[in-house]
Amino acid sequence: MNKIKIAPSLLSANFLNLEKDLIECINAGAEILHFDIMDGHFVPNITFGPMLLKSLKPLMKNILADVHLMIENSSNYIPVFAEYGADMISVHVENNKHLYRVLQLIKSFKIKAGIVLNPLTPLEYAYQAAEYSDFILLMSVNPGFGGQDYISSFEKKCLTLKNYLIKNNLKNVEIEVDGGIKADNVNKAVENGANIIVSGSGIFNGNIKENILKLRENANKAISKFK
Ligand code: DX5
Ligand code: ZN
Repeated sequence: MNKIKIAPSLLSANFLNLEKDLIECINAGAEILHFDIMDGHFVPNITFGPMLLKSLKPLMKNILADVHLMIENSSNYIPVFAEYGADMISVHVENNKHLYRVLQLIKSFKIKAGIVLNPLTPLEYAYQAAEYSDFILLMSVNPGFGGQDYISSFEKKCLTLKNYLIKNNLKNVEIEVDGGIKADNVNKAVENGANIIVSGSGIFNGNIKENILKLRENANKAISKFK
């Protein structure tokens, strides 16, 4: 099993004091900061763009920048996110017709490349793209907003994907879960094979440090049960 990595989703942070929230995440040991980039076309919400990454990057000494693109024409924006310091970039399979090309573009910047599947998108996309991906993000809510309820059909899908990766010698391809994950259900994600844990409202609502520590504690308990 790959190591558990906690990835706070900035979308739920306090925008009046992002620096403070970011430092708290780093001090609590979060490995990854998750940036949700939305354009109001692929998803019904607009968030932030590359400038936010550029501004925060100097503070991000011990934390990786994970850019989750929920936008049309992803390829047009990959170079600027790379220039501003993305360490991981993921693109949705639903709106990227030339997935192989996009994954190669991301990798050309020496950045980890990932694909994302919406809750009801069939796993076949992931099977086909897995050997060209560093990680696969399975959405456990419909993309667009933080604070939504977790969709439990994620669990069976995640386990099926994990078994596929093991069987096909692709164990290093990590599985990221995103949406509705909190300390009380993170075990469901880990027991079914996810190791990169995105959490927005589960971390930023309340005490950030306590929430991160609890998430990690419960994730680590669950990892021991994973076969
Ligand atoms: C949804 C985003 C998620 C979201 C997670 O489109 O991709 O990253 O911010 O937030 P929570 O954990 O609150 O569901
Ligand atoms: Zn996300």
